[in-house]
Amino acid sequence: MAQQATAQIGVTGLAVMGRNLARNLARNGFTVAVHNRSPERTRSLMAEHGDEGAFVPSESVADFVASLERPRAVIVMVKAGAPTDAVIDELVPLLEAGDIVVDCGNAHFADTRRREEALRGHGLHFVGTGVSGGEEGALRGPSIMPGGSAESYQKLGPMFEKIAAQVEGTPCCRHIGPDGAGHFVKMVHNGIEYADMQLIAEAYDLLRAGLSAGPAEIAEIFREWNGGELESFLIEITADVLAHTDAATGKPFVDVVLDQAEQKGTGRWTVQSALDLGIPITGIAEATFARSLSGHADQREAARRAFADAGEKWQVDDRETFVEDVRRALLASKIVAYAQGFDHIRAGSREYDWDIDLGGTATIWRGGCIIRARFLDRIREAYDAEPDLSTLLVAPWFADRVRDGVPGWRRVVADAARAGVPTPGFSSSLAYFDALRAERLPAALIQGLRDNFGAHTYHRVDRQGTFHTVWAGDRSEVEA
Ligand code: 6PG
Repeated sequence: MAQQATAQIGVTGLAVMGRNLARNLARNGFTVAVHNRSPERTRSLMAEHGDEGAFVPSESVADFVASLERPRAVIVMVKAGAPTDAVIDELVPLLEAGDIVVDCGNAHFADTRRREEALRGHGLHFVGTGVSGGEEGALRGPSIMPGGSAESYQKLGPMFEKIAAQVEGTPCCRHIGPDGAGHFVKMVHNGIEYADMQLIAEAYDLLRAGLSAGPAEIAEIFREWNGGELESFLIEITADVLAHTDAATGKPFVDVVLDQAEQKGTGRWTVQSALDLGIPITGIAEATFARSLSGHADQREAARRAFADAGEKWQVDDRETFVEDVRRALLASKIVAYAQGFDHIRAGSREYDWDIDLGGTATIWRGGCIIRARFLDRIREAYDAEPDLSTLLVAPWFADRVRDGVPGWRRVVADAARAGVPTPGFSSSLAYFDALRAERLPAALIQGLRDNFGAHTYHRVDRQGTFHTVWAGDRSEVEA
C-alpha cells in the first residue's frame, strides 16, 4: 500500500547522530519519517525506541519521500562529502518544488553553497545546518545553526527551535543566514573548540609541571575554576577526564592515553578559510598545528634524543599565585581565541553577503554546543550593545579581564619558556594581544625589504601615495 503523507519531517541516515535527532523530534511531538540504506538500522530504531513518539519507517527512498507531507523536509545524516552527494542525487528526482533537503553533517560550507545553488535550480531548498553537542546533544538538545533560505526556515524553524537546547526560555537555534552560512558558523564553532581545548590542555600541562601535581589534584583546580568566569562544558568535562582512573592499570586515565591528538578536519577548514579572508585566528591555528605536531612521533623521538635537557627545573614558590596566574592566562587567551573566531564569522558574513548576527550567534552557543559557556552571555551583551565592535577584546567586560590577566599571563608564558614547557596557545595569544595594541609594528621593515628585493612598493606615514625606492640606483624615492 502507498505510504500516506503524514510525516512532518524525515531523517535518512540512522547512525547515532541521525537516530538521536529523529528520536528528539519524535519525543517533541513531531511525526518523523525514518529511513536508512540498510533497513536493519531502521528496524532496530523502531524496535528499541519506536514507542518514544510517532515514527513512519520506510525501507525504500521512494516510500520514505512519499510518507512526508508537503513541503517535504528531509534531514540527510550521512558522512560528509561524496556519500552526502549520493543521497541528494537519489532524493532530488523524487522531490517537488518547495521541498527542503537539510544536511546536518559537518559539511564544508563551500560544498553547501554548491549544493544550495544546484538544488535551487530544481526549485528545491538546500539547508546546510550545523548541529553541535555530539550524540547526547542531538538527543537531548543541541545547538542548531541552519543556513539556507528564509522560506525553508519557516518550515524548519519551529521544529528545530523546539528540539534545540533551551537557555532561559530561548532556543539555541536561529536562522544564521543564506546558503552556506550555517555550516560556516559551525566550522568556526569547531575552530574555537580546538582553541579552547588546546588552552585547557596547556593550563593542565603548566599546572602539572609547575606544581608537580597529579591529574586528580589538577582536576580539583579545574572543578573550582568551573565555579567562576571559566564555567563551561569543556572545563567541566576536563575535571571529569582528569579525575578518571584507568580500570585496567589503576593509573590516571590521562597518563595511559597516547599523546597524539587527532582531528576530523573542521579546525583545518577554519584556518584555511581565515587565511583566505585575511583574519589572524592565531589561537585556532596554533591549536590545529599543535594537534598535527603531536602526531609526528618520529620527529618528536629524534628531538627528545637531541635536546633532552633543554629546559630548566621549574620550582614554583607561591603555589596560590601561580594557580591564579594560570587561570587568568587561560581566561585571557580564551578571550583572544573567541575574539578572533567572531572576527572570522564577521569576515565570512561580509565576503559571502550573509548578514550574520554576531550577538545572535553567541546567544545560540550558550547551550547545547561543545563550547557552551557562561561567558557567551557576555559576548552576546557585547555585540548587542555595539554590533560594529571592532574586536571583542576591547568590550569592557573582556578588556577588564584581559588587563587583569596580563601580569600573570606574562609570568606564566615567561616561566614556561624558561622551563621548556610548550605553550603555543597561551604565548601566541599574548603575542596577538601585544601586536594588536602596539604603537608601531616591525611590518614597516617588512615593507622596506619587499620593496628592496621585489620593488613591491610601500606607503608612508607622512603622506598619501604609493612609493618605491631605487635601491639598485641612486636610492631616490619615486611615486609608483
Ligand atoms: C560538535 C563537535 C562535533 C565533533 C567534532 C570533532 O560540535 O558537536 O565539534 O562536530 O565531535 O567535529 O572534531 P575533531 O575530530 O576535529 O576534534
